[in-house]
Amino acid sequence: MIPENAGPAAVIVLAAGAGTRMKSRTPKILHEIGGLSMVGHALRAARSINPQRLAIVVRHERDLVEGHVAALDPQALIVDQDDVPGTGRAVEAALEALDAGQALAGTVVVTYGDVPLLSGELLTELVATHEFEGNAVTVLTAVLDDATGYGRILRGEDGSVTGIREHKDSSEAEKLIREVNSGIYAFDAAVLRDALGKVTTDNAQGEKYLTDVLGLAREAGGRVAAVVTADRWQVEGANDRVQLAALGAELNRRTVEAWMRAGVTVVDPATTWIDSSVTLDEDVRLLPNTQLHGATTVARDAVVGPDTTLTDVTVGEGATVARTHGSGSVIGPRAAVGPFTYLRPGTVLGEKGKVGAFYETKNVTIGRGSKLSHLGYAGDAEIGEDTNIGCGNITANYDGEKKHRTVIGSGVRTGSNTVFVAPVTVGDGAYSGAGAVIRKDVPAGALALSVAAQRNAEGWVPAHRPGTRSAELAQAATNDSSSTPASTEEGK
Ligand code: UD1
Ligand code: CA
Repeated sequence: MIPENAGPAAVIVLAAGAGTRMKSRTPKILHEIGGLSMVGHALRAARSINPQRLAIVVRHERDLVEGHVAALDPQALIVDQDDVPGTGRAVEAALEALDAGQALAGTVVVTYGDVPLLSGELLTELVATHEFEGNAVTVLTAVLDDATGYGRILRGEDGSVTGIREHKDSSEAEKLIREVNSGIYAFDAAVLRDALGKVTTDNAQGEKYLTDVLGLAREAGGRVAAVVTADRWQVEGANDRVQLAALGAELNRRTVEAWMRAGVTVVDPATTWIDSSVTLDEDVRLLPNTQLHGATTVARDAVVGPDTTLTDVTVGEGATVARTHGSGSVIGPRAAVGPFTYLRPGTVLGEKGKVGAFYETKNVTIGRGSKLSHLGYAGDAEIGEDTNIGCGNITANYDGEKKHRTVIGSGVRTGSNTVFVAPVTVGDGAYSGAGAVIRKDVPAGALALSVAAQRNAEGWVPAHRPGTRSAELAQAATNDSSSTPASTEEGK
């Protein structure tokens, strides 16, 4: 039974090409923009029109590509192309695989794995036009200033599409045509099957051209038409890293613009990078040079940036995150992070909590209202509520072999430079003195001191460093203080 909102019978994504111009050990279609591989974008657009079947044709680096595709879209049918080259052969292979069992009927859409900005909306328009007009083939085209390399759209006197001529097979007159084939089409399955049976490799490249199907469909009496898009980015492929960066920048421009229209303030769109997978609430403010990646979400009224990179971070309502590098963390509502803070995976900062300047955190839960304001490291720890961790505190969580946990209660006040030698537990309301090295558990309400009493060896500097500037100044100060005792520290 066909579901009510059923899309086309199938989408076939072509992805067998080698992509040599990338000059990369990574297959071309696995290169990313906006936090997702190009083939990931292609699969997402394909899925969004709700096809009954989805096939992807692979060949180059097929194992790597297969693993990647299977992880992104487990339902996609992976089809291998054989030694016969060309887009026609690729579609033929997919059609054979899809026909196994029961021959496809209805609309078959073809897209490319390396055209990442193609949207579901444009594909929907292509399919709707194709089906409404009852076409045999509908090709998506664009008019370019420089059509070099593309297949040219041939039209008759009456403007109807008569065929496609590949650049390498075209005459001088045909080379002047600026309307190009995007390589994205809607076909009637039966027409496609019949025509592919007749396509030969008799052309400049010795390939089976999918483009030959248009002429053959027309000869067989079918209607061939085009949907012309004014948005060239949606049909642009990335063949090298220059095009990849241009597409990445355009995708980002679109993503940032969409968020601004949805109520997010972006102070500097050009230096703000947002993955397609990120979600933002209304009245979020993004300051310059901010990158938001992966499953990052930012709640209402939060301010992120400047100079902040967050990957898979949840930012709570009204939180501020400045000059921070964070991943796999949760920042609670109205909490404050930064500047110059490094949040590593497993950091959970409670409501109104703070992790301040030059702090690194990892695998630590920090309770509501607790503050780690300056200079330190908290790893493998649990900190209660309304605790103040002094400047320069460190959890010594690693004994050289294993990691151990530090548990600190609520309402705790630790002195500057306290070191927690884990495993260790500090009870509620406990204090520690400056420089304490906490090796033993501290009971609730206790003051932990571990530092030896201070001893001053008077006159040590002049005696042991004679002739130095320090000795000179010490001598002068000693003489001064003996004549005017009221000006010494002690006298205040
Ligand atoms: C193709 C079109 C051309 C169009 C252009 C748009 C043909 C004959 N030509 O040209 O009219 O203007 O795309 O970019 O179709 N692929 C396979 N198997 C193959 C060959 C290609 O899967 O044997 C895949 C590639 O991975 C790629 C897509 O098909 O995703 C296009 O291949 P490419 O070689 O770039 O086609 P062009 O020659 O540029
Ligand atoms: Ca191409």
